[in-house]
Amino acid sequence: MAIRHLMSPLDFTVEETEKLLDLAGDIERHPEKYSRICEGKRIATLFYEPSTRTRLSFEAAMMNLGGKVLGFHSEDSSSAAKGESVSDTIRIVSCYADIAAMRHPKEGAPLVASLKSGIPVINAGDGGHQHPTQTLTDMLTIRSLKGRLDHLKIGLCGDLKFGRTVHSLIESLSRYEGVSFVLISPEELRVPSYVRNGMLAKNIPFEEVVKLDEDTMSGLDILYMTRVQRERFFNEADYVRMKDFYILDRDKMDVAPKDMCVLHPLPRVNEISVEVDDDPRACYFRQAKYGVYARMALILTLMEIEVK
Ligand code: CP
Repeated sequence: MAIRHLMSPLDFTVEETEKLLDLAGDIERHPEKYSRICEGKRIATLFYEPSTRTRLSFEAAMMNLGGKVLGFHSEDSSSAAKGESVSDTIRIVSCYADIAAMRHPKEGAPLVASLKSGIPVINAGDGGHQHPTQTLTDMLTIRSLKGRLDHLKIGLCGDLKFGRTVHSLIESLSRYEGVSFVLISPEELRVPSYVRNGMLAKNIPFEEVVKLDEDTMSGLDILYMTRVQRERFFNEADYVRMKDFYILDRDKMDVAPKDMCVLHPLPRVNEISVEVDDDPRACYFRQAKYGVYARMALILTLMEIEVK
């Protein structure tokens, strides 16, 4: 049977995505049912770029399923530092583990690895391209908070050019009826043309604006904040000019819709003031917790393991 990988959220149909989110919901409600289901299985976390949430939640996910974890957390601590390719690395890791999650600064590197892999490979973030497991996390969070994934008005704010979580989330939610987007960014950090063209091709309503103010936030169900991705800039001066372009603070929250949920893939730098953390609409720490359930469901799905 063909090995299934996850490179983009579109690798799953809407029906498959819903099934995975249902499974994640069941895992949240009944963790004991799943606590030994992956006994004897291992996940390899192959991280060529820094991470807190994605790597640790993959590791927690496999441990919660009764499995084990191996891997590396930086290029420097693997034989990549000696020049080994991702293709050779995954061939080796296929001998040691049953599934792998790979984060890499180069767009497409997990895809290249998947072509030579003997085990399922999950894209845990490739450059400024895609971050499909963050999208599963975001969708699980939105569905839990709002009870639906359709008929939502979603604002995405910050670095929409390099923010891979934004690209994956737009592509995924564009498949749901009645979804519209407000894209809030400086001109230089607008979404890439492939993301914009995807929305145009599907007739998804969207507007691109610069200001984050009462008008922009009017009617939003979700405000998805993102940090400016320093590591993707070619020069530090541009980053410094952009980094504090948006700061969501208490004054802005005072004029935001009363039922608007604030999400953020994290890490946060300055774009959400800590004074917002206690606002009941601030949901970004809960969002990080959903990442474990989403990744547990993903591991089971790709390994084709079912609870009897
Ligand atoms: N959201 C996210 O990808 O966080 P990390 O970079 O800490 O994994």
